[in-house]
Amino acid sequence: MGPQSKKKIGSFRLTMRFIVPLVIAMTLLAYALLPLVDKLTLHWFTHDLDIRSQLIANTIQEPIGEFLEQGNMARINSLIRRVIKDERLFAMGFCDGKGTLHYSTPKFPKDISCPDPNLPSPEKPSILKLPNGMVHVAVKPVLVAEKPSGYLFLIHDMSFIESRSADTRKYIVLFFVILFLVIAFITVLVAHLSWRGWMSAVRSLLRGESDVKPLTKGSYAELQPLMGDLRSLLRTIDAEKRFADDVTIFWSPDKLRELLRKQLAGEQILVVSNREPYIHMKGKEGIEINRPASGLVTAVEPVMKACSGTWIAHGGGTADREVVDKNDHVNIPPERPKYTLRRIWLSREEEKGYYYGFANEGLWPLCHIAHVRPIFRTSDWQHYVKINQRFADAVVKEANREDPVVLVQDYHFALLPSMLRKILPKSTIITFWHIPWPNPESFGICPWREELLQGMLGSTILGFHTPFHCKNFLETVDRYLETRIEHASSTISHGGNLTLVEAYPISIQWPPPWQDSQPSVAECRAEIRKFLKIDENCLIALGVDRMDYTKGILERLRAVESLLENHPEMVGRFSLVQIGAPTRSILEEYQAFEARVRALTARINQRFASGAYQPVYLKVEHHEPEDVNSYYRAADVCMVTSLHDGMNLVAKEYIASRDDERGVLLLSQFTGAAHELYEALIVNPYHIEQTANALYQALTMPEFEQRERMHSMRLMVRDFNVFRWAGRMLIDASKIRQREKLAARIGAEI
Ligand code: F6P
Repeated sequence: MGPQSKKKIGSFRLTMRFIVPLVIAMTLLAYALLPLVDKLTLHWFTHDLDIRSQLIANTIQEPIGEFLEQGNMARINSLIRRVIKDERLFAMGFCDGKGTLHYSTPKFPKDISCPDPNLPSPEKPSILKLPNGMVHVAVKPVLVAEKPSGYLFLIHDMSFIESRSADTRKYIVLFFVILFLVIAFITVLVAHLSWRGWMSAVRSLLRGESDVKPLTKGSYAELQPLMGDLRSLLRTIDAEKRFADDVTIFWSPDKLRELLRKQLAGEQILVVSNREPYIHMKGKEGIEINRPASGLVTAVEPVMKACSGTWIAHGGGTADREVVDKNDHVNIPPERPKYTLRRIWLSREEEKGYYYGFANEGLWPLCHIAHVRPIFRTSDWQHYVKINQRFADAVVKEANREDPVVLVQDYHFALLPSMLRKILPKSTIITFWHIPWPNPESFGICPWREELLQGMLGSTILGFHTPFHCKNFLETVDRYLETRIEHASSTISHGGNLTLVEAYPISIQWPPPWQDSQPSVAECRAEIRKFLKIDENCLIALGVDRMDYTKGILERLRAVESLLENHPEMVGRFSLVQIGAPTRSILEEYQAFEARVRALTARINQRFASGAYQPVYLKVEHHEPEDVNSYYRAADVCMVTSLHDGMNLVAKEYIASRDDERGVLLLSQFTGAAHELYEALIVNPYHIEQTANALYQALTMPEFEQRERMHSMRLMVRDFNVFRWAGRMLIDASKIRQREKLAARIGAEI
């Protein structure tokens, strides 16, 4: 049986549940009322006949009196014959004062006799049952000189009462039938509207909406207490489940695969990011493959390896076009393909406007409060809109079903979620914002703030690294858009779409990919020192960043300078190795920043270098992840001094690399990582002396303390790894999908 037939049967049953009791109630009421109505009509008509008899008696009393006085009985008879012509009068009779029936009309009943002259005259009329019906008998005295001198019988036919009574009964039954129909119609209508209202409320609740619109005013006001209970029950179940997951599940690629198999069985997973995970470049010896320095790629790649979907990204490498098939697909990782990369091509001009311009000169400084002014140009915005649409169209093309799970990455694609929602309304869109979200005032300077927010609210789930960024986002939406925000469940309703805003702290793969193949810590220490020509006893602090002004590299260098000034014993015994991955270097701001870093490095080296000793090693070049791992293992301290950072995965990578449980992490309080890695030395990078003191503390930290801190941070990174990050988002997505499916089923039932 199809859903439509089920729906019809459901409605019929529902209707019958109202109608049957109504029919019974109406029938009982009608049966109780009919005898009452009979009695009442009899009473009314008898009363009418009383009055009528009195009226006739009064009218003919005078002439009869006169005829009596004259002794002219013939005139009395003739008067009665005239009166009897009234169709209601059945019979009449006249008795003289001695009790003799003097005259009677033909139908006068035989068993009626004249009143006894010795008894008081009867006053009350009576009802007599004759073989062919009932009659109303009134006896009226005729007065002559104020004395009763005879009696007039006025007998009315009552058969008309019965026919009127039958008519009344008929009308009453008709009235009840109409009343029944009207009540039934209104009841069914109200019940239907209420039912739809309740169902729509329950469906909205299942979808996770918190503020549900009634169909008619107050149509489910009575459901409100129940809604509250249901809502808190769902929240409790969610919270308990999440807590149980957090405590008991160890997240690994296998666990993620199991989740996909069990909860998202057969669902298609698509990832969208600007940066591609593998870049094919033309090198001297043919095509080379580069891995970009990108936290995003570090996090998403292991997830894609686990779930084998399609990753859509900008093909920016010089040899990228050479390796794709006719659909712009290439299977990766090259050595052991696990998923598909779909490349999107951009012209130079498009890349300049969308990526360098709007994304990196506009949104990047807007969201990182790092004292670099955002630049907004209309032409950049136009490119941003166009490229978002191009990626959205590519998602649609890659989707092999109407409801794929799409993981949209980062600030390059703020508009894509709502563009996609329009074309694939049933898709589950998980947008993750890898950079911080600023306060409403800071965000408000963007000329296209409303468009960006509306675009993001096409997402099913919108993830940030920290609850603080979520709070900033909710406040920003509250400030600039007309939406319904439910803070308790952290959801935003906008344009018929519901978005869950949640914190999912990103992380790295655990165990690290080179766990089994990497050289020992001792080998790495020796190798790196040898490579850099650093004395083997020299302590090394390491910085690994893209050459970005948000990373606090200048502040880090100043802290090193301050340390060497205040602790001269460290000169010759300590060096900073700063790896700077080239990034966005066509932008002036980045060129100027790199120049400042180089100048400051040169100044510090000039001040403190002696012989073979060099305090700062600045290496602005691309490093493969395995090489960076060797640096991590060689370093005594890792310095992460970002002025503002969504998470910062360098901090977690450093911890993951230290299976010897040695080394100290110095971490900026303005990173998302500082909300998780409490055993790091937390610093305010703007405070140069404080950072220098922390660096000194790190360089001189006893081994047992290093072990304690590192051990605890490793447990944290192990348990809260990138598979948990993706797993928690996908679990939330699967819950939402289940609820939506249930809501759709309920929709089909009503
Ligand atoms: O932090 C945001 C982010 O997208 C990171 O994921 C990544 O580290 C960095 O920016 C990469 O920037 P780009 O792709 O511009 O080189």
